[in-house]
Amino acid sequence: MTAPCKIAIAGLGTVGTGVVKALTARGEDLSRRAGRELKIVAVSARDKNKTRGIAVTGWTDDPLSLAMGDADVVVELIGGDEGIARRLVETALRNGKHVVTANKALLAKHGLALAKLAEEKGVTLKFEAAAAGGIPIVKVLREDLIAHGVDAVKGILNGTCNYILTEMEASGRAFADVLKEAQEKGYAEADPTLDVDGGDTAHKLALLSALAFGTAPDLAGVAVEGIRHITPDDIAFASEFGFRIKLLGVARKVGDRIDQKVHPAMVRVRSALANVSGAANGVLVDAGEAGSFFFSGRGAGEAPTASAVIADIVEAASGGSSPVFGQPATGLKVLEPADGKQAVSPWYLRFEVLDVPGVLAFIAGQLAEAGVSIESMIQRVRAPGAPVSIVMITHETAQSAVERALKAIGASDKVRARPCMIPMES
Ligand SMILES: NC(=O)c1ccc[n+]([C@@H]2O[C@H](COP(=O)([O-])OP(=O)(O)OC[C@H]3O[C@@H](n4cnc5c(N)ncnc54)[C@H](OP(=O)(O)O)[C@@H]3O)[C@@H](O)[C@H]2O)c1
Repeated sequence: MTAPCKIAIAGLGTVGTGVVKALTARGEDLSRRAGRELKIVAVSARDKNKTRGIAVTGWTDDPLSLAMGDADVVVELIGGDEGIARRLVETALRNGKHVVTANKALLAKHGLALAKLAEEKGVTLKFEAAAAGGIPIVKVLREDLIAHGVDAVKGILNGTCNYILTEMEASGRAFADVLKEAQEKGYAEADPTLDVDGGDTAHKLALLSALAFGTAPDLAGVAVEGIRHITPDDIAFASEFGFRIKLLGVARKVGDRIDQKVHPAMVRVRSALANVSGAANGVLVDAGEAGSFFFSGRGAGEAPTASAVIADIVEAASGGSSPVFGQPATGLKVLEPADGKQAVSPWYLRFEVLDVPGVLAFIAGQLAEAGVSIESMIQRVRAPGAPVSIVMITHETAQSAVERALKAIGASDKVRARPCMIPMES
């Protein structure tokens, strides 16, 4: 008879509670799949007296003690790239325990060192829930789409941003308005910075990129732009052109380098990514000769995230020991980031200008000087004396050339706000 697999869980918030509920409700079936009984032996969180809607067994006030007890698998569901989460994961690995975590911030920042530590100690470090929640994309990139290599990964990886953009499109309301409502409904954090400024997407992209390309996670190499500057006008103009605005994380191979970017992008309304609505996530993998694959589903929330954590627990309990990032940590390449500003696409440009003679000629002149050619243009006057919106779609142009032109245009006193530029799917 195989000994039970002893599980210690640190963090009993949204995800931790979901994990305990699933292990309690479906423990027998999950134990059969693991080949041994899955047994929660210890749990920890901040406040012992909090009502959690679960039976709490094996409480300890000190989460770090979980890394030093007799657990076989330590599940870290506290969060944060430093502090107690990092200490717990490091100590657990050092003490020869398998670790399961949903912590993208920790792994995006310290993934290589933690993977090396896990390998040195002969244990596993699993993080299926850390990127795209319930979508099993980590396993797909680590173990499945490997025969022909991956050329690019593109994803809607942050449900909060996708919810906000979807609501802005449906209601025509401004970003700040929709964000406030999302906070009231619990879809956005009180401090939404990490979500709406693209940091959370960058964490997830760094992990997917490492798995896809066999590299060490390189968070510092991700160029990040969020969605705060997107206006209802941008969304309405996108729709007129047959596009929808999404916050994308994009990682692609450029020669022997990797270009990693998080930015709003215009995707064609009929594309798979455009139809990922509300808080859902979607990931498109371009796997060379094998073709393109699209995955979508719930990227956050109690049950979907617990689903991914449980899959990792069962795999760790049953002795699954695939390398953390798909290949030995010592062999993970550390690549120079590609110069992402050379990436070429058509661009959507929006300028808010004073309604005075010569403005259009000035903008056109600056664009021409930077080598940016215009395919089409819309000019919209709202009211006499009010600023005018000028929207242009460019031919395929490198990002660097568009930025050069917009810097000069934005410096003019006839231009009211920072010009907006969004790449469009060609
Ligand atoms: N929520 C999601 O949908 C989702 C999706 C994917 C990945 N993740 C990741 O999963 C992890 C957990 O997220 P969550 O949403 O479940 O967070 P959460 O609801 O805020 O829960 C965090 C838990 O950690 C405990 N905690 C916080 N600081 C602690 C400390 N210093 N010592 C001991 N316990 C501490 C809290 O204790 P108290 O309950 O006592 O306050 C709480 O139980 C994060 O890494 C997150 O990025 C979350």
